[in-house]
Amino acid sequence: MAMDPKKDYQGLSDECLAMIEEVRSFCEKEVKQTAIDADANPEVQDPKMMEVIAKACKLGYNAFDVPAENGGAGFTKLESVALLEAMSWYDAGFGITISANGLAGGPVVIGGNQQQKDRMYEIIMNGGIGSFCLTEPAAGCDASAGQSVAVKEGDEYVINGGKCFITNGPLASYYVVFAMTDKSKGAGHGYSAFFIDKKAEDVPGMTIGRIENKMGIRNSQVSEVLFDNVRVPASALIGKEGEGFKLAMKTLDVARITCGITAIGICQRALDEAAAYTKERVQFGAPLANNEVIQFKLADMAMKLQAGRQLCIHATDLYMQHVPFSAEAAMAKCVASDASAYISSEAVQILGGYGFMRNYPVEKLMRDSKIFQIFEGTNEIQRMVIGRSIVK
Ligand code: CAA
Repeated sequence: MAMDPKKDYQGLSDECLAMIEEVRSFCEKEVKQTAIDADANPEVQDPKMMEVIAKACKLGYNAFDVPAENGGAGFTKLESVALLEAMSWYDAGFGITISANGLAGGPVVIGGNQQQKDRMYEIIMNGGIGSFCLTEPAAGCDASAGQSVAVKEGDEYVINGGKCFITNGPLASYYVVFAMTDKSKGAGHGYSAFFIDKKAEDVPGMTIGRIENKMGIRNSQVSEVLFDNVRVPASALIGKEGEGFKLAMKTLDVARITCGITAIGICQRALDEAAAYTKERVQFGAPLANNEVIQFKLADMAMKLQAGRQLCIHATDLYMQHVPFSAEAAMAKCVASDASAYISSEAVQILGGYGFMRNYPVEKLMRDSKIFQIFEGTNEIQRMVIGRSIVK
């Protein structure tokens, strides 16, 4: 019962449906086994997986919602969400690598000038992906507590500080960096966003620190990104000084939908693996699938999956109609990630002892799912966003 793009998503174009087929065939060949092998590699950067990511970007999988006039596919947000779910079924780390490009590009799309947008799209169309540099050791859930600073000197800004847990840090060809330009105004009005249109190695003073060794989504690269007197031209500023926090929040609203749908990719994979196993596994003289206790488990998994998916689709619809959607995006992320934690754990349960073993795919899904309750704002933060929208 894999995701049916015509039934589960309404109104996808024929081009998008064809692209979903193309993506599935690419991932079947290139991602499926490589992701399992790379996950088992104790090294944090698996060379084969890096090659697959580069290949996918060369094919334009990083550019699904880049406008056609900039050379991209010009798919709608709903279409790129459906494509992301299809990719994430194969490997959530792969999905997050691709979707974090959208996260990085968000501030440029929302608040950047045409020159910045054109440059970013040029990088993406050349196979590049981006990195969103917000989180710091003291600023996780409390995004406003960042210590990085950008000081204006003539027609440049000088950035100092350190970011951590930065997705795509070691891989990126462009970075969007948040730093304080006026501490007296607090983060809400003192943070600014900067577009650095180069690889870190090409920016004097900018370095990639520790690359993290993670429990799950091991095929997504996460690192420190460090700034030591990094000089960027004044033209790197996105929007105006002081607009950074709001740009980050608006971007995260959209990214919470894509985070949610990546978790739905895990849900669907876990359900599919578990359902297939119940038909093969015979206990007490009959396939597990004949057992009502098991059917009820599969039913609960399917209900939670579809609830999460449809919340993601609903939040995407609101976004596309320019209707406020912050609370709905938070609901989508929260329900979808809780669903992936539950469903992947139930998949392990259904496979029993085999589910716990590394040579069956579901234990990886359980490890991959956990981070979705944590990043892009913990699910406690999502409840804060939803709760505030109710009582405001
Ligand atoms: N859209 C527009 N403006 C917004 C906004 C939104 N969604 N949310 C807040 N704002 C505005 C507020 O209106 C306010 O503006 P004024 O001062 O003009 O009134 C200003 O921003 C400050 O807002 P708050 O007082 O609500 O800010 P806060 O400090 O209480 O924080 C928060 C709010 C929701 C908790 C926020 O800190 C948050 O989202 N934290 C989580 C951080 C996060 O998600 N990090 C993820 C990092 S990226 C990642 O994980 C990705 C990855 O690796 C793949």
